[in-house]
Amino acid sequence: MKVLGIESSCDETACAVVENGRHLLASEVASQIELHARYGGVVPEVASRQHLLAIIPTIRQAMDRALTGWPDLDAIAVTRGPGLAGSLLVGVSVAKALALAQGKPLIGINHLEAHIYANWLSADEPEFPLLCLVVSGGHTDLILMQGHGDYTLLGRTRDDAAGEAFDKAARILDLGYPGGPAIDQAACAGTPTLPLPRAWLPGSYDFSFSGLKTALYRLAEESNLANVNDAAASFQEAVVEVLVGKTLAAAREHQVRQILLSGGVAANHCLRTRLKQESPLPVLMPPPALCTDNAAMVAACGYYHLRRQALDSLDMDVIPDLKLITLENKS
Ligand code: KG4
Ligand code: ZN
Repeated sequence: MKVLGIESSCDETACAVVENGRHLLASEVASQIELHARYGGVVPEVASRQHLLAIIPTIRQAMDRALTGWPDLDAIAVTRGPGLAGSLLVGVSVAKALALAQGKPLIGINHLEAHIYANWLSADEPEFPLLCLVVSGGHTDLILMQGHGDYTLLGRTRDDAAGEAFDKAARILDLGYPGGPAIDQAACAGTPTLPLPRAWLPGSYDFSFSGLKTALYRLAEESNLANVNDAAASFQEAVVEVLVGKTLAAAREHQVRQILLSGGVAANHCLRTRLKQESPLPVLMPPPALCTDNAAMVAACGYYHLRRQALDSLDMDVIPDLKLITLENKS
C-alpha cells in the first residue's frame, strides 16, 4: 500500500510517498529557514503564505520522484496538529481537495506521532514495548508505546521544549537561527567547562530547561563568555545529560525492549552518541534528515492508521494544540 504524506505544521512544506509504512519512495522538503532567519524565528503569517506557494510544486515533485500516479495511491495522510493554525490549514485543505478529487481515504495525523514513526523507515523494525523520547522545537515528551497507536505519556517539559532551549541559548550566544544546529556545530569545537545546572526533578519524568537557559544568560552577562564554543558545549551537555538520564531511568522502570529517539533535536550529535553509548538496550533513531520536519514520517504513520481503518472525514479540522494523548481515543 502506498500513502502520500503532507506536512505543513511549521516552516517546512513537505510531501512524501511511502510504501507499506516502511519503504521510502520519495521525500521532498521545501524549507523556509532562510525566509525566517532574518526575524530570528518563525513568523506565522509569512509561513502560511510560503506554504501556499510551495505546496503544489512539492507534491508534484514527490509524486514524480516516487514514479507514482494518483491511481497507485491508497490514502492521503496529512498533519492536522499540533502546529501553527494558518500553516496547518494549507496542508489539510490541499489534502482534503486531493482526497475528494481522487477518491482516496483521508487520514489526519498528529505531528508528534509522525515524529515517532520516522523510526519505522529505518532498516530495523522497532519492537514493542518501546520507550520514545520525542524532542522537538515545541515538545519534550517521554512516551511509553506498547503497540501501534497505544501511548502513555510518562513525562513532558514543564517549561521550554529542548529545541526551544537550544534556539534561545543560540540567541544568547549570538550563534544565529536555527539555534539547534548552530549549538551542535559550535559545541564540536568546544569543551564543556561552564558550571551549568541540571533540573533533575526527582520522582518525576518531567523536564525543565528554563533555569538552565537563565543560568547561561546570567553567565553571558556577567563574564562576557570568552569562548562561545565552550559555552555551547556546556549548554548542550547539560541538556543531553538530563535527557539521557531520564530516558534510561524510564526505560528501566517500564522494562521496554528498545528506546526510540525522534524529533528535530534527535539530529543532535551529542544526544545521539551518548544515548547509544550509555543505553544497555538497543536505541533506534532516524537519520538526521528524518528527525527534523518531513512528510515521510507522516506517510509512514498514515499507513498504520490505514491498516486499522483509523480514517477521517472531509470535515476534519486542524487542531493547533492537538495532544498525543487524544490519539488513544481515535483508534
Ligand atoms: O521537529 P522539528 O524539526 O520541528 C518541530 O516539530 O518543532 O524540530 C525543530 C527543533 C528546533 O528547535 C531546532 O533548533 C532543533 O529542532 N534542532 C536541533 C538540531 N537540529 C534541529 N537541536 C539540537 N541539535 C541539532 N543538531
Ligand atoms: Zn516537528
